[in-house]
Amino acid sequence: MSAKIISGAEIAEQIRQELRKDIASLKEKGVTPGLAVVLVGEDPASQSYVRMKGKACEELGLFSQTIVKPADTSEEELLALIDSLNADPRIHGILVQLPLPKHIDENKVILRIDPNKDVDGFHPINVGKMLIGEPGFLPCTPHGIQEMLIRSGVDPEGKHVVVVGRSNIVGKPVAAILVQKRKGANATVTIAHSRTRDLASITRSADILVAAMGSPQFIKADMVREGAVVIDVGSNRIDDPSAKRGYRWVGDVDFEAVKEKASAITPVPGGVGPMTIVMLMKNTVLSASRALEAD
Ligand code: GUN
Repeated sequence: MSAKIISGAEIAEQIRQELRKDIASLKEKGVTPGLAVVLVGEDPASQSYVRMKGKACEELGLFSQTIVKPADTSEEELLALIDSLNADPRIHGILVQLPLPKHIDENKVILRIDPNKDVDGFHPINVGKMLIGEPGFLPCTPHGIQEMLIRSGVDPEGKHVVVVGRSNIVGKPVAAILVQKRKGANATVTIAHSRTRDLASITRSADILVAAMGSPQFIKADMVREGAVVIDVGSNRIDDPSAKRGYRWVGDVDFEAVKEKASAITPVPGGVGPMTIVMLMKNTVLSASRALEAD
């Protein structure tokens, strides 16, 4: 039987509808949530992500500022830009698109962002709050994955979630969120990665499999248990001469084969990607509400 397709695009639209109400009520109180997105360099994938984030702001009527800097921008210059955004009352969220050019220390940059404007949830203060279950900002992709599961009727409670990939952006935080002692979480979580022995035997024990290792179509049908829920976080551009543009996007999962075995699966594109963007909007609106309360 073919799996149910979990549409991130549809779930993201539901969340956008909810956000429209919150945004209208903030605007009535004189506050327009504002997001600054900083891009250093000309990486085409990053350019496309940054464009999508700006468009999402525009569509919801948020204030947005996209700041593009050349690849040879110095670390000091970038830190000074962050200082000015930290001090700007129109800006409630600051996102520095990663990866940064090699000569810039990513951790130093993240540390400079005001934790109250860190809508990516990457600042160590917010990472710490996430781990201990305190309210801060949850990182967008992992939080989006949790929302997607809950809203499509998949309760992680008591399930074995296997996360393949241990990045700071997805693997580690999605594990931290789903293991929390609370509704919508309470999962048993295993993190597997490139050094894991006998990976397939571990992925086959997953009730919910999260593929986030950044390797095109790596998860094959024989690595998935019959009836598992599969969340594909991958976004890989592969050459395809038969496609109009000469390439197409694929995930970390061999979608066509795995969909015949899973009970539910996210597509690429249209799965996790739209969720990441809408959760960024949600964090920006949340930050604006908190700023208003603190006034
Ligand atoms: N690069 C890939 N994903 C992300 C993300 O969620 N936030 C930022 N800032 N950079 C990224």
